[in-house]
Amino acid sequence: MTLANRSLVTIDDLSNREIEALFSLADEMSESMSEQSNVCQGKILASLFFEPSTRTRLSFETAMHRLGGRVISAVDIGATSLAKGESIADMARVVGSYADIIVIRHPWEGAAKIVADYAGVPVINAGDGGHQHPTQTLCDLYTIKKERQTIKGLRIALWGDLKYGRTIHSLIFALARFGATVLFHPAPGLEVPNHVIEKLATEYGGELKRYQAPDQAVKGELFPLDAIYITPISPHQLAMIPDISIQVELKTGVDALYVTRPQKERFATAEEEQDLNKHYPVVDKKLLKQKEFKKTLVLHPLPRVDELAYELDADPRSMYFKQAARGVPIRMALIALLLGSKEVSLPKEADSFAQKIDYLPYTRDYGVRCPNPRCASVQETESKYIKPEFKIVRREPLTLRCIYCEHGFEPRYIASSDWHEGRLDTKKYHSADSHWIKKIKPENLIIFNSESEAEAHGFKPSSYAKKHHGGNDDKGKRGKKR
Ligand code: CP
Repeated sequence: MTLANRSLVTIDDLSNREIEALFSLADEMSESMSEQSNVCQGKILASLFFEPSTRTRLSFETAMHRLGGRVISAVDIGATSLAKGESIADMARVVGSYADIIVIRHPWEGAAKIVADYAGVPVINAGDGGHQHPTQTLCDLYTIKKERQTIKGLRIALWGDLKYGRTIHSLIFALARFGATVLFHPAPGLEVPNHVIEKLATEYGGELKRYQAPDQAVKGELFPLDAIYITPISPHQLAMIPDISIQVELKTGVDALYVTRPQKERFATAEEEQDLNKHYPVVDKKLLKQKEFKKTLVLHPLPRVDELAYELDADPRSMYFKQAARGVPIRMALIALLLGSKEVSLPKEADSFAQKIDYLPYTRDYGVRCPNPRCASVQETESKYIKPEFKIVRREPLTLRCIYCEHGFEPRYIASSDWHEGRLDTKKYHSADSHWIKKIKPENLIIFNSESEAEAHGFKPSSYAKKHHGGNDDKGKRGKKR
């Protein structure tokens, strides 16, 4: 099997069988490191890191050197022509004409997808804002698999900043796909975003139980949970039975604790920073003394700040430096596969608990834009050429997912392109939660985020435009984030 010319933008770009095959190649390479020095001879990797990095950048560069290839790099937007207003697409086309493969880290969510769309060579996402970090996820899964031989059926707790942690977002989906049960223990205010939860609930076949208020959280000797995703291989009724049963289930032990630092650089409000200083949960010797953590692997993508005590470094359960070290063979295997320098055979069996849903696309030149201010598609330099594109993930309530940053949201207004004989006075827009959402055919659907946006395109409010939103004028408001 070849992965030549493919890109890795999100963890969904690799199937479970491909991930298993990549792990086998990484094993083979780490056992014979000195024999790999001709694998990518003559190839060039462009290493573009527009946010700080130690592990990801240096392990990618080490990996390419170990494979006998060469590296060109840019590590500061200010030292590139992006600082002069060049678009990501133009940069991608140019770098793609110099290098055989591109690794990019960028603060905008969806930036790696744009590079992959335009570069003409394989592109690897080394972290795009708070969206995803799929190669970190490969290192995380590889470490769990090496230490526990399987991921299926394990109970894995995600700890800390589950809102902005991109490693968390790609790991959640991967764990669900491999059949793990996922326990969510966020710092207050840093819970997993709804759009991630909704994707997990609709596409991964398990049961999700969410604890909305702290007093409903599962309390006891274990840490209080915000939510639990129960893999489909666990008894189906587990999600339905009282919290106490989940507590009993968890007392049998947590297989891995995945700790993350607060991603302060992405905090949107001063309150988030204030809350953080008071309430960020810490993993230390005292916590790990509890019996449910007796055999728990402690993982962390690093860097750490104060959430993971140094006193644990010598503890055999601590995996974080192994995780970082394993980044080299994992990234060697990935580069060699995407460049077509290596091929692998796929394992016959690899369970996947993901359910592929072919959502209807929504693409129009005008109307709704992604409401996520960190989305690459809405940035000034990129919105000149990017056509907004969404998946319609639900009709009622109408819910869109941006194909760049994957944020989900409920737009507020709809119209039909099939207005009577094109007469302007019948161009009407309606509230998205009115009965019109059932009447308008998908191919005729026009979606707006605000009244002003609809009116700027010559649409007038119908009697169903305001009814469901209490008659408020929402001019300029963005769609509600989910
Ligand atoms: N884990 C990780 O992405 O580390 P760096 O930011 O140092 O690359």
